[in-house]
Amino acid sequence: MRVEQANVLIFDSGVGGLSVYQEICTLLPQVNYFYLFDNEAYPYGELAQEILLGRVIHLVQEAVSRWQIDLVVIACNTASTIVLPQLRECLDIPIVGVVPAIKPAALVAQKGIALIATPATITRPYTQDLIEQFLPNVSIELLGSTRLVDIAEEKLRGLPVNLNELKTILTPIMGCVDVAVLGCTHFPLLKQEIADALSETVTLIDSGSAIARRVVSLLSPIIKSAQLGERVIHSTMPPWEADALNRQLNLLGFKLPCALFKTQI
Ligand code: DGL
Repeated sequence: MRVEQANVLIFDSGVGGLSVYQEICTLLPQVNYFYLFDNEAYPYGELAQEILLGRVIHLVQEAVSRWQIDLVVIACNTASTIVLPQLRECLDIPIVGVVPAIKPAALVAQKGIALIATPATITRPYTQDLIEQFLPNVSIELLGSTRLVDIAEEKLRGLPVNLNELKTILTPIMGCVDVAVLGCTHFPLLKQEIADALSETVTLIDSGSAIARRVVSLLSPIIKSAQLGERVIHSTMPPWEADALNRQLNLLGFKLPCALFKTQI
């Protein structure tokens, strides 16, 4: 790996990957971050598997060569649970994926575990394998919701979160679990609201900090620069409520505006 100041690509369908970006750049502020979101095909949780695979492989390969990326983070559980093997075959740089934190949940749960994710993630064989491996004798509640993903997109654009709506969505898991896995990168953006809607006795677990530690372990031996890195953000189509979104992105340190990632797909 070449490197003075590493270039990291963070990829998601929407703003969810920003929860992962925040964890990583707290530990590694000296890295250049290129955030790319495929809002043209959002929500990934309802996209046919073959289309998702084709888009992610094409967009990530294109971004890697355009920006001379040193490490990729697929900051999306829905994509990571199917795309990682193929992506690793196409690229010879480290690819870090985000998958539901079933293993750490298994270590702390006393009563029961819920996995809150997209409708696609809860049905993926990869997720089922994680469950069989780490929770062989424990039942798990699976809750797939695209509306919850939309609510996180709305919150990042400054729209209020309706706690009653959140409670209705979470009703199926209320009272029967003491640990909830946030298996979609959009959900840590709603962590406080989800905690309020469930109960303070429910522990919420996500993969963000583990991913950040993994990125640090891969990059810190080779980063020389101590200077603050650049942060740029691109989307595959113009985002809705762009002004409100840009204001938040500015607070997160991104160079504005969010630009269009033009490519033939
Ligand atoms: N943020 C994504 C995830 O972690 C997916 C959201 C979506 O596009 O459905 O699964």
